[in-house]
Amino acid sequence: MTGTVKIAIDGPSGSGKSTLARSLSKILGYVYVDTGAIYRTVGLYAKRNGISPDDEKSLKERFPDINISLKWENGCQRILLNGEDVSEDIRTPEASMYASAVSALPEVRKFLLSMQRDIAARSNVIMDGRDIGTVILPDAQVKIFMHAEAKIRAERRYKELVGKGKDVTYKEVYDDMCRRDKNDSTREQAPCIPAKDAVIFDNSLLSETETVERALKIIEEKIK
Ligand code: DC
Repeated sequence: MTGTVKIAIDGPSGSGKSTLARSLSKILGYVYVDTGAIYRTVGLYAKRNGISPDDEKSLKERFPDINISLKWENGCQRILLNGEDVSEDIRTPEASMYASAVSALPEVRKFLLSMQRDIAARSNVIMDGRDIGTVILPDAQVKIFMHAEAKIRAERRYKELVGKGKDVTYKEVYDDMCRRDKNDSTREQAPCIPAKDAVIFDNSLLSETETVERALKIIEEKIK
């Protein structure tokens, strides 16, 4: 096979994409790219600079001032906004809502498209997001679309946030997730839907280990 290997993992928040992608990247030795972090960073920029997250015009004018870079430490992605590591700051519920809003703006998606494609052209990647299989890497050799029930996804995200010491309630996480699901799947630009050639993977009832095992089988079948 020539060129790089591209594995696209899409799905709604809390579907277990990042956990799976991180495990696969360790096993396969591919670079893991969490594209949600990139949208979150644009959202954080808007929030910090008092720009309404649906004000496409003002945000576009500031693109030259938004310099986003990724680096990897022990296989974990860190994200920098104008040189500052914002990997933790982008994880608050407020940053999530900003990310969801800015990600619906066509200009923002255009701005971030080449950045994502460039990374995939340089290395073998496992990229997770919402539109990786449909828009960013339509030529990915493997496309997996993750799905799990909203209640289960909210429980996972709640445990993750509490584990990180965040002060949130389950209800806040669940409501926030339903709102974002609606935004992300009904927007006109790159909605969160499976590519025609994606394998739909419902992991509601699977453990992390079972999820990884099943994904490895899918990958093995696609990349002989
Ligand atoms: O995966 P996440 O929850 O960190 O993503 C944050 C937001 O960014 C989410 O509301 C949807 C958006 N997003 C997107 O539109 N396209 C992607 N490829 C990744 C994330």
